[in-house]
Amino acid sequence: METVKKSASAMEAFEKLEKVGEGTYGKVYRARDRVTGKIVALKKTRLHEDEEGVPPTTLREISLLRMLSRDPHIVKLMDVKQGQNKEGKTVLYLVFEYMDTDVKKFIRSFRANGENIPPKTVKSLMYQLCKGVAFCHGHGVLHRDLKPHNLLMDRKTNVLKLADFGLGRAYTLPIKKYTHEILTLWYRAPEVLLGATHYSTAVDMWSVGCIFAELVTKQALFPGDSELQQLLHIFRLLGTPNEELWPGVSKLVNWHEYPQWNPQPLSTAVPGLDEDGLHLLSEMLHYEPAKRISAKKAMEHPYFDDLDKTPL
Ligand SMILES: Nc1ncnc2c1ncn2[C@@H]1O[C@H](COP(=O)(O)OP(=O)(O)O)[C@@H](O)[C@H]1O
Ligand SMILES: [Mg+2]
Repeated sequence: METVKKSASAMEAFEKLEKVGEGTYGKVYRARDRVTGKIVALKKTRLHEDEEGVPPTTLREISLLRMLSRDPHIVKLMDVKQGQNKEGKTVLYLVFEYMDTDVKKFIRSFRANGENIPPKTVKSLMYQLCKGVAFCHGHGVLHRDLKPHNLLMDRKTNVLKLADFGLGRAYTLPIKKYTHEILTLWYRAPEVLLGATHYSTAVDMWSVGCIFAELVTKQALFPGDSELQQLLHIFRLLGTPNEELWPGVSKLVNWHEYPQWNPQPLSTAVPGLDEDGLHLLSEMLHYEPAKRISAKKAMEHPYFDDLDKTPL
């Protein structure tokens, strides 16, 4: 059974240094452990307004997080502390290993310098991403919000780790951040956009494909600003799906009639990716979720044959 240490002020143990992130469920701080001097990331999570103490569902998710963070490509959850905010409401502090950058910033820095990310680096990042995702899926956990911002990195070693297994996301997809900033749709699988109610590990692989293309071009593959625009972006590149291309598509609840586009070669949208890479990408962007490549299979794809996997 998961337990959470209660501390009158969880913050006594840590010195908050600065806010490094603000997202769906709370704020993230860089902080220093007052005893060991170690730098950590503190993620402050509010519980539901009416809860006294930590609800069992949250405890279950924390134990899941702990289990997942045994994988070297998933950010390490070091501790969980319970505290109270100024209004006396219960807050949880998740203590994570600190990572000094993320894939969004990493891509941005190359874009700013007008440089491409070296193909070997793209390959290594993609392999690590697939490995982390394979570990989650192997344990029956979907991430559901894979995007560059949720992939933390170590600048020196280019080690990549999945982060942000949002508490509560197991049950509902967040629509908005609590700061009312709209959540990005760019990495969202078409079956999710079309309202599929049962979705699978394939939703994460779609996101992995979008991230792959973005690592190569430094631009989002499908930068939609509404659910409809998001679908149209996808259809323009991959062709408007139909029952032939994607059996069952017209039965999805959000399905309508859409403009008709023919599939374009992926090389037009992702120039600079070699043939093996384009093939792997096409396997990640299959419309039919059941046909989409799994993370484990992706790791065995010829694209990764020439990658030195020993340090990974
Ligand atoms: N372990 C960490 N080390 C360094 N920065 C982190 C860490 N965890 C989160 N962050 C930063 O905080 C941001 C928000 O955290 P995240 O876990 O994604 O929560 P949210 O659900 O709020 O998006 C991340 O995008 C990242 O910039
Ligand atoms: Mg996040």
